Amino acid sequence: MTTCDHPGVLLASGATALVYELDDRRVLRRYRDPAHATGRAAAATRIAGDAGVPTPRVLAAHGPDLVLERVDGPTMLAEMTSGAVAEQLPMREAMAMLADLHRRTHRVRMPQGERELPRLPGGDSLLHLDLHPNNVLMAADGPQLIDWENASWGPPGFDVAVTAVILACYALAYRTEDDAVDATDLLDAFLRSAEPLTHLSDAVDFRRERVDFMPAAEAAQLDNAAGLVRYLADRSGQ
Ligand SMILES: Nc1ncnc2c1ncn2[C@@H]1O[C@H](COP(=O)(O)OP(=O)(O)O)[C@@H](O)[C@H]1O
Ligand SMILES: [Mg+2]
Repeated sequence: MTTCDHPGVLLASGATALVYELDDRRVLRRYRDPAHATGRAAAATRIAGDAGVPTPRVLAAHGPDLVLERVDGPTMLAEMTSGAVAEQLPMREAMAMLADLHRRTHRVRMPQGERELPRLPGGDSLLHLDLHPNNVLMAADGPQLIDWENASWGPPGFDVAVTAVILACYALAYRTEDDAVDATDLLDAFLRSAEPLTHLSDAVDFRRERVDFMPAAEAAQLDNAAGLVRYLADRSGQ
């Protein structure tokens, strides 16, 4: 049983979900796997939104389906890389924005008795754990953070480390291509504006558990990611 048997136009297809336009104010995010329940993503999106983190409102959740307020705007990655260079979002600005979204998320603390999200040892901050430029939508009134399916309570430095590993795999996977954005500079800029990272080897293990949802070229760089992150973090005084 799903929320809507005939959704509208397919807006985007992510690694785990297909996102359809329901109308000009709502989207349907449907997991590709019908057995994958959206409960955790829905709970985390609600918790984050209620605490003031910019994220689309949850309008309904049922089985693999999540109905969300529609955000008008490209992803941060698209805004950094597409169109004329003069109109692109500068890399440093984007990475400062990403670091700020981390801080705003981590300021949310686990309420007493909260049971909807898993708790990791070492902290009680809200963690997104997939906070990268494809999970930020650039609305006219500011960035909106989406895709909360990995959200947990835990130590902020782990969330920073997960983002750093994601950016490092991306940088290492595509380093030979002539890219509009140099992804190593992207990681360097992120580390310079982010909170201190911790739990780096746990972050690599965490990403390793998700290789099925990553492009093969990025998954192949997991063994090399920690070295690049450590090198740049040490250089930036982290
Ligand atoms: N509320 C929304 N409004 C507009 N577009 C959205 C919304 N939520 C998701 N999308 C689009 O769908 C894509 C995939 O959604 P996401 O939640 O990141 O799923 P996945 O887990 O598959 O990455 C996003 O990158 C974005 O382009
Ligand atoms: Mg996503």
